[in-house]
Amino acid sequence: MTALVNRQWLLARRPSGLVSEADFKWNEAAVPELADGQVLVRTLCLSCDPTQRGWMSIDTYLPKVELGEVMRSSGAGRVVASKHPAFAAGQLVQGLVGWQDYAVVAAGKPGALMPLPPGVPIETALGALGITGITAYFGLIDVGKAKPGETVVVSGAAGATGSMVAQIGKILGCRVVGIAGGADKCRYLTTELGLDAAIDYKSEDLAERLGETCPKGIDVYFDNVGGDILDAALGKLAMRGRVVICGAISRYNEAAPGPGPKNYMNLLLKRGRMEGFIVLDYLPRVAEAILPMAGWLAQGKLKDRVDVQVGLERAPAALARLFLGQNEGKQLVRVAE
Ligand SMILES: NC(=O)c1ccc[n+]([C@@H]2O[C@H](COP(=O)([O-])OP(=O)(O)OC[C@H]3O[C@@H](n4cnc5c(N)ncnc54)[C@H](OP(=O)(O)O)[C@@H]3O)[C@@H](O)[C@H]2O)c1
Repeated sequence: MTALVNRQWLLARRPSGLVSEADFKWNEAAVPELADGQVLVRTLCLSCDPTQRGWMSIDTYLPKVELGEVMRSSGAGRVVASKHPAFAAGQLVQGLVGWQDYAVVAAGKPGALMPLPPGVPIETALGALGITGITAYFGLIDVGKAKPGETVVVSGAAGATGSMVAQIGKILGCRVVGIAGGADKCRYLTTELGLDAAIDYKSEDLAERLGETCPKGIDVYFDNVGGDILDAALGKLAMRGRVVICGAISRYNEAAPGPGPKNYMNLLLKRGRMEGFIVLDYLPRVAEAILPMAGWLAQGKLKDRVDVQVGLERAPAALARLFLGQNEGKQLVRVAE
């Protein structure tokens, strides 16, 4: 086992603005011997998540990655060796494997390592039926309390989480309007995913288009981006509208917090509710989301779009794609077949 070479990306410095390869250092190390309770995992596929930008800089719901540590990342892999009774060599698993070929995981910690659902492709397990899908499901249904006939607006709508929110909204019988960057993404939302309308925030007047597409106001605004888009959506809130604060990718590269939304007080006037959530709180209830979503996927009601970059070397560039809007669906990095 010690003969295995572990290729890794270590965090070299705190990033300024957009992440770049220079924020990381390529390293090759030996794979350590396993201690009791540990599992050795061969990384097969990495998930790229905007939250990794925060992990590189500041303490959030997890402590920041220390300089010189392997870059934290969720992903999937195959167990090579195990000193934990719940895992055996050959098994497919998912967890925080990091940007490296081999991860030694202390499998006893809650949520550290989970078996992949049987028969589910790795890309789906990391996307539609993984953290992405669970975030969308509970965010829209549990936090947003979306009901049939209501108007749901989702930002980052062509992205991994947003496209799941949009489709679940349609399945629930809501009117769904998506906000995304560029004509191609907007066309995908209306023609492929069947949304009622899509708004290109890069070329259209957002406030005007929200007024046109949501004549009765917004009942649920699912926010993935924050900033000016959140502000525009707050301005169109319906009476007792709910704002789901899932993320704020437009702000993650800023060194200091930007000014707050001007339309914030509309929450008061409209008796609205704005609520943040972290998907990790819902891990004990995963089956509640996965069972209906697996059914919708099988019935073709839910489309799962993945964007796969190939090679561990591509990990920093793949993460940057999220902030450049280059990813078309869930961004993954395939490390090994
Ligand atoms: N609360 C939780 O537990 C939880 C869990 C998972 C994810 N999240 C959050 O959910 C959001 C989406 O994550 P994801 O993994 O699904 O990524 P994603 O939507 O697949 O990719 C990110 C997308 O964000 C958009 N974007 C980037 N910079 C932007 C900007 N300045 N203004 C507006 N849009 C911008 C881009 O789309 P365009 O081309 O349309 O701009 C890009 O494709 C993130 O904010 C993430 O932090 C939260």
